[in-house]
Amino acid sequence: MKKLEQLYEGKAKKVFATEDPALVIVDYKDDATAGDGAKKGTIRGKGVVNNRLSNNLMKMLEEKGIPTHFVEELSERETVVKKVEIVPLEVIVRNVAAGSFTKRLGVAEGTVLKAPTLEFSYKNDDLHDPLINHYHALALELATQEEIDTISDYAFRINKILSEYLLGFNIRLIDFKLEFGRLADGTIVLADEISPDTCRFWDATTGAHLDKDLFRRDLGGEEEAYKEVMSRLLGE
Ligand code: TMP
Ligand code: ASP
Repeated sequence: MKKLEQLYEGKAKKVFATEDPALVIVDYKDDATAGDGAKKGTIRGKGVVNNRLSNNLMKMLEEKGIPTHFVEELSERETVVKKVEIVPLEVIVRNVAAGSFTKRLGVAEGTVLKAPTLEFSYKNDDLHDPLINHYHALALELATQEEIDTISDYAFRINKILSEYLLGFNIRLIDFKLEFGRLADGTIVLADEISPDTCRFWDATTGAHLDKDLFRRDLGGEEEAYKEVMSRLLGE
C-alpha cells in the first residue's frame, strides 16, 4: 500500500492518503505533549510502542466483537486503517480515581470507584476539550442519540475486555480515553489509538505508573515504562 499526500498532522500521529479512498495510513511520532500542548517533548520509541500496542489491542477487541478501524500493520510506526469521520468526543472510562477526576471531585488518587464512570469531552483544542454531558453532545450535533448509545455500550464493553486482558499481564487499567469514527455508511467503529498515551496503566503489584503520567508529571522513566508495557503484552 502506497503512502500518498499527508492529510493531517496531529500531536502524536500523521495521517496519509492511499490509492484507496476508504483507507488511510497512520504514522506514529515520538512527540509528546501534555496540558493541552503547554508541555512539549519526546518519548524515544513511543511511536513504535503505541503503533504496535494499539494494533494488538484493537485486533483483540475485534475478536471480541468490537468493530475498529484497524486494517493492517505496515511497519513499526505505520498502520493502514479505515478512513473515518471522527466523532468529536473524547470518551473516557474510569475504574479508579486519578487525574482530572481527583481534582474535580476531591477524591484521593487510587480510590476504587463503586462503578465505572463514563465521561464525554468535546474534542476542541481552542476550548481545551471541555467536559460535557450527552445532552450537550446532542444539542451541538456532535453525535446522534443512537450513536451515543452505541458508543457508550462499546466503551463499557471495551473496559471489561481490556481490564481483564491487562490483568493477565499484571497491569491494572485505571482509566482510558477512546475516540470513535463513522465509516462512509455511518457505521460507528473504534478509532484513534489505545496506548500508554491514552490510558492509565498501573503495575498491579507495585502500583508503579506505566503510562504517560510519568511525562505529564515530570516523574521520569517514561521511555522504559512504554517499553515495559510492550514487552509484557507482546513478549519482546
Ligand atoms: P484525565 O484524568 O486527565 O481526564 O484523563 C483521563 C484519561 O484520558 C487518561 O487515561 C488519559 C487520557 N487522556 C487522553 O488520552 N488525552 C487527553 O488529552 C487527556 C486530557 C487525557
Ligand atoms: N492530549 C493532551 C495534550 O496535548 C495530552 C495529555 O494529557 O494526554 O496536551
